[in-house]
Amino acid sequence: MDPQVLVIFGASGDLAQRKLIPALYHLYKGNFLPEQFAVLGVSRTGYSDDDFRKEVFWENTYIDGGDKDEAFADMLFYQAIDTLSGEDYKKVRQRLEKLDENRKTAGNYIFYLSVPPSLYPKIPAFLAAEGLNNRKKGWKRLVIEKPFGYDRESALKLNKELQQYFLEDQIYRIDHYLGKETVQNLLVARFANGIFEPLWNRNYIHHIEITAAENIGVGKRGGYYDHSGALRDMVQNHLLQVVAHVAMEPPTTADAVSIRNEKLKLFQSLRPIGESEVEKYVIRGQYIGASIKGERVPGYREEEEVDENSTTETYVALKFFIDNWRWADVPFYIRTGKRLPTKATEIVVYFKSPPHHLFRNELDLLNMNNQLIIRVQPDEGMLLKFGMKVPGAGFKVKNVSMDFHYTDLTEADVPEAYQRLIIDVMKGDATLYARGDSVEAAWQFVDPILNAWKNQNNIKLYGYPAGTWGPEVANKLIDGDNVSWRNPCSNLTDSSDYRLL
Ligand code: BG6
Repeated sequence: MDPQVLVIFGASGDLAQRKLIPALYHLYKGNFLPEQFAVLGVSRTGYSDDDFRKEVFWENTYIDGGDKDEAFADMLFYQAIDTLSGEDYKKVRQRLEKLDENRKTAGNYIFYLSVPPSLYPKIPAFLAAEGLNNRKKGWKRLVIEKPFGYDRESALKLNKELQQYFLEDQIYRIDHYLGKETVQNLLVARFANGIFEPLWNRNYIHHIEITAAENIGVGKRGGYYDHSGALRDMVQNHLLQVVAHVAMEPPTTADAVSIRNEKLKLFQSLRPIGESEVEKYVIRGQYIGASIKGERVPGYREEEEVDENSTTETYVALKFFIDNWRWADVPFYIRTGKRLPTKATEIVVYFKSPPHHLFRNELDLLNMNNQLIIRVQPDEGMLLKFGMKVPGAGFKVKNVSMDFHYTDLTEADVPEAYQRLIIDVMKGDATLYARGDSVEAAWQFVDPILNAWKNQNNIKLYGYPAGTWGPEVANKLIDGDNVSWRNPCSNLTDSSDYRLL
């Protein structure tokens, strides 16, 4: 791999501590880092190199125990600057020149923006003013964390601002769901096997369901979340990316251009939910305080930094269609929420029932549908459900499961999403990063829903008790005979305080 420096803006922040430095240490331990390599942390806090090493490495409890390696600490450097002062970027340039000299990093830099979104357009402009976007001596890459825009208009504006200083192929927009092994495996399962893809269409699939449940509440992120909500926080990015992996057409080759072209096409094929249809296709909810295992869990409006009359959704369920040849008339259902009974992300592909029900009395219709369940997290793996004969007289049919767990692969150490994404940007592989046009297309789908919620006060916001599977009305969203959401476990509370907010 090329020699390089990873420059982390916002290096004294939470993400560097929790995700970036631990991921880098894992990569170091696995011998994946380039020989000539350095990390330059940049932020306001007045650390020295040693303070930085102590803070993010030696005393970082997110890094697994055991003896930590001095040689890794020696790769970490720090530069304090005022990120809003153009003048200060000279210090960054000088520091990088020094690192190039001492560590032979050849002018190849990744600028990782782990900073509040208001700084996204500013830092690239300051870097450019110092010539730090210049590709003449070494390559330059820019990594941007979410949120990428607040709606389509702001995403367009941000893309334009960034592209003033960096070319699209230098910009890497993180969506950490794309770094998840199981999300990538969707492409392998579909396109490396002969058995799934022939069935993967409207002729054999009844509907597809995607759930991303979290049992935690908003915790200390109320200030951010109250201006975001579940649709912006989870659906516009993570869940639509998962939808793209499930539903896109086969790319011609497995490279960034082909795969990302197919994903864009898929986003462009999402049938828009018009503002006047939002009530019919979208359910929004917010958690209400409840008692779980004898302990009271606060409602969303009681959380820190959340408006006491907030109408921000902590749960959203959507039904939509994909208007293309493969998926015509196949409903897709997605839902996500905080304070649900468990943390689990899974995709359920429901196949159509056999055309003639020979054993009609033995199994209800729902169970007739074969299901392929793809567990994104935790307990990553796949499960195929089908009917088998119970031994003995007659034709009693029983639903059985054939399953695969990643943990069964003894050699498998499922890498954390950030490890994969960091190594990819180091290699210059953008396949698992979101391209600008796709992000805009995803916003285009989400925008009318946000507008309807903003403009139509009569659209209902349903309260659901913390520890339940969200508003009961979301069950009505899934129509058709005997079909309901697949809940990986039952409610944690028996509170039935479902009410309109
Ligand atoms: C983040 C959201 O992008 O994804 C959080 O901002 C959410 O609200 C998180 O909790 C979920 O990620 P994961 O990997 O834990 O499923």
